[in-house]
Amino acid sequence: MRGGLTLLHSWTVLLVLPLVSACTQQSTQTAARQIGNASRGAGLISWYGCSACHSVPGVPGADALVGPPLDHFSHRGYIAGVLHNSPDNLVMWIRNPQKFVPGNAMPALGIDDRDAHDIAAYLYSIE
Ligand code: HEC
Repeated sequence: MRGGLTLLHSWTVLLVLPLVSACTQQSTQTAARQIGNASRGAGLISWYGCSACHSVPGVPGADALVGPPLDHFSHRGYIAGVLHNSPDNLVMWIRNPQKFVPGNAMPALGIDDRDAHDIAAYLYSIE
């Protein structure tokens, strides 16, 4: 009987986990569409020089490896390993990464709230 319960429990985890993660992705992508203008964000990624450190799919010339590649961003659980991956947190990270991981190599680039929203919208639009 105990073995049966354990088996049942494993099945529950196997069935429920993919559902939870599918919901997270969907809500993150939906939220992204609402938070900003993704195509403007792609241009800003070049303008602010994010491409000097990151590889970003869909942004010409963004193939650097100083920071982590920003592909599959809506599928990530955490931002820089410390912030839960949500649109609000991504905007805060883009505006002031030093606040969350002091001393890391990503500088605060003087990005205003609107630009940070558009950049975040683009990052979430990357499949
Ligand atoms: C001088 C290099 C540099 C520049 C310029 C830079 N970054 Fe970063 N970025 C980093 C590094 C290094 C990290 C990893 C920080 C950490 O994990 O502590 C990082 C982390 C990130 C993360 C989290 C990645 C993850 O895997 O969780 C995002 C998102 C990000 N940067 C976006 C941007 C955007 C958008 C710009 C332009 C506005 C930008 N970065 C400019 C170096 C840079």
